[in-house]
Amino acid sequence: MNAAASRLAPSITTLIRMDHSHVLAIAHRYRVDASESKKRALVTNTCIAKQVHAQLEEEIFYPRMRDVLPGDEALQRSDGEHQQMKDLINELRERCAGSEPLDQSFDEKFMTLMRIFLHHIAEEETYILPAAERLLGTELSQLGAQMTRRRIELMKPYAGEMAKSAARSFPVGTATGAALLTAGAVALGAMLFSRNRNGRGFGGLQRIGSRRH
Ligand SMILES: [Fe+2]
Ligand SMILES: [Fe+2]
Repeated sequence: MNAAASRLAPSITTLIRMDHSHVLAIAHRYRVDASESKKRALVTNTCIAKQVHAQLEEEIFYPRMRDVLPGDEALQRSDGEHQQMKDLINELRERCAGSEPLDQSFDEKFMTLMRIFLHHIAEEETYILPAAERLLGTELSQLGAQMTRRRIELMKPYAGEMAKSAARSFPVGTATGAALLTAGAVALGAMLFSRNRNGRGFGGLQRIGSRRH
């Protein structure tokens, strides 16, 4: 993407907020009395969306925020919360892929993940993102463009799995289902930007838990 296109790209803070809404929109469909296949599909989609989001923040957003807010306590707290969520995501993904029945402990683990996520995004949206908007100015759009390019790389290995589990968890033909089947508005933006992709090779998602910001 050239410099002019980068300046027109959505800001990284807008993309992060959209990601949060997207994860919540999927997770809000979870019910403890839902069928096992629906639970597996919803949790798989929530975990992949959350996992990709965390990696994007860790690679692109948080390093820049640490430059402009060195030693900030909220940024340090975020490290711990990302790690807690990664551990829970790994456990939930393993259980979704396995054949063991999903008991109450599965519901509780997913609710724990969502509780940490809600607390985490509250701090990001009320403190860290506003700080970025005060301190980074026009750089926000450049970082947004960078995030969009990287998202395409990270999502590629999951496209099939996301489509399969989305088809199991959303009623066909509903507006919500149609939007979420494409992995949300954020991914939609990523697809638009992909038309301008500059030919860089695709990378894979880092093994979750192997990197902390
Ligand atoms: Fe985060
Ligand atoms: Fe976030």
